[in-house]
Amino acid sequence: MTNPSPLILKSDDASIEKASALLRDGKLVAFPTETVYGLGADATSDDAIARIFEAKERPSFNPLIVHLPDIGTIGHYVDVTSLAQKLAQAFWPGAMTLVLNRRLACPVSKLASAGLNTLAVRVPKHDLAHQLLLKTALPIAAPSANRSETISPTKASHVATSLGDRVDAILDGGPCQVGLESTVIDATGEAPVILRLGGLTKDEIEDAAGMKALIAGDDHQAPKSPGMMRRHYAPSIPLRLNVTTPAEGEGWLGFGPDCPTATLNLSPSGNLREAAANLFAMMHEMDSKTFKSMAIAPIPMEGLGLAINDRIKRAATPQSNKDEE
Ligand code: TXA
Ligand code: MG
Repeated sequence: MTNPSPLILKSDDASIEKASALLRDGKLVAFPTETVYGLGADATSDDAIARIFEAKERPSFNPLIVHLPDIGTIGHYVDVTSLAQKLAQAFWPGAMTLVLNRRLACPVSKLASAGLNTLAVRVPKHDLAHQLLLKTALPIAAPSANRSETISPTKASHVATSLGDRVDAILDGGPCQVGLESTVIDATGEAPVILRLGGLTKDEIEDAAGMKALIAGDDHQAPKSPGMMRRHYAPSIPLRLNVTTPAEGEGWLGFGPDCPTATLNLSPSGNLREAAANLFAMMHEMDSKTFKSMAIAPIPMEGLGLAINDRIKRAATPQSNKDEE
């Protein structure tokens, strides 16, 4: 099956201008980094982030990496630990992503963090990416620019084949040099915890950090895998799913036109992208009210509905089972 062709932009000033205008307008732009091509969108826009998940057809919300032009503004978004400072100095710009705690005033969409209190940030080392980030002047969230469960793209043509016109434009910067995704490191604590191996080796990380690194899943002390259950946001009150008639004293998070008495509605018109964009903010808001429990209306199991259902199912799992998965 061939996809309709997307707009391919060359690496000149006019193209960068066009690409950043699209990003500022909430559109999806694939761009090269030294590791792989990223599927970029305005990280501060819930709607733009929902478009990324829609385009990738992922059945769950994996948290995304936010790309910045330089180290200077990172403290705006996350708490920069002394470990993060050391690693940033050693490896940025480059093939490293740091997971850090979000600042309270962090303007990045909660959907980009998949509801976690942490945010992954990266300063890529690629001239075109750097220029695009500078020109756009927004944090840009970007997963690899391929459909879920397909190979990461290292050329503009790979992106075009995988995503077609689901992406509004592709900035063509030729083949990626590293060709392997960035190494993802949790730098919230004292020791580095490697969440995903990639362009950097464990030895290089240990040298820069001046201490042993843990590998998530391998080491007993380290969290199992990126943002897994334990740190995922779950409401403080019980959560019931597929509810068409809420109980007395229960808050009801609706979906679609058949929930006129809902406390809040993820999408009154039944639009799944709108529902995804609202999901985390509305779950937080419901949680802050004084309900004894929270009920969520049925969400269709199609398109973005798969990821929404996956997420709320996890949130509905009792606290004690959270580390099991
Ligand atoms: O090289 C790369 O990293 C490319 C380029 C485009 O930057 N991006 C990339 O993104 O590979 P993606 O979405 O395919 O992979 C991001 C990885 C996932 O394993 C995700 O679970 C992890 O980073 N991640 C993102 N945010 C996280 C968080 N808050 N906590 C833990 N892991 C996180
Ligand atoms: Mg990927």
